[in-house]
Amino acid sequence: MSMKVVVLHQSRTGNTKKAAELIGGAVQSSGASVSVRSVSNIDYKELADADLIFVGTWVDGLIMFGHRPGDSGKIKKVPKLWDKKVVAFMTHALNPGNAAEKMASLLEEHGANVLASRSLNRHHLELEAPAFANEALSLSNGVGVTA
Ligand SMILES: Cc1cc2nc3c(=O)[nH]c(=O)nc-3n(C[C@H](O)[C@H](O)[C@H](O)COP(=O)(O)O)c2cc1C
Repeated sequence: MSMKVVVLHQSRTGNTKKAAELIGGAVQSSGASVSVRSVSNIDYKELADADLIFVGTWVDGLIMFGHRPGDSGKIKKVPKLWDKKVVAFMTHALNPGNAAEKMASLLEEHGANVLASRSLNRHHLELEAPAFANEALSLSNGVGVTA
């Protein structure tokens, strides 16, 4: 059976949603089944059945400092991800600081097994989002890891 992937996004102006759709496209091209959804429209069964879950939001901060996951309250409302393989992604404008690491920590506190986390430049999503999705898929498939 093919791998089941869910891509969740929290987006205000559409960039993170676009990143989620590009990630979804790359995942589909790899042969997995994929569902792309807003965090406010989660399908609980789909999430429970998922082999791999991407969770994305935007970078909030003061450009030079104070970087953090945007709308983290909404991310915390995602059902607990106990032992699920999770990949964190974000989108930013100029400088993400350490927001992607903070997003990974937030998801780990939420029970996730975070495989990777990255912030993508909103101006280069077509390039960066599929590349990151493919990296994350390799990690989740254990490519390059000997049994
Ligand atoms: C209140 C606020 C703070 C932001 N702070 C940063 C920042 O510190 N660094 C950065 O690179 N982008 C920052 N941005 C830009 C957003 O992270 C970027 O536009 C993102 O792609 C928005 O995602 P969305 O379209 O999914 O809402 C900020 C945006 C807002 C609204």
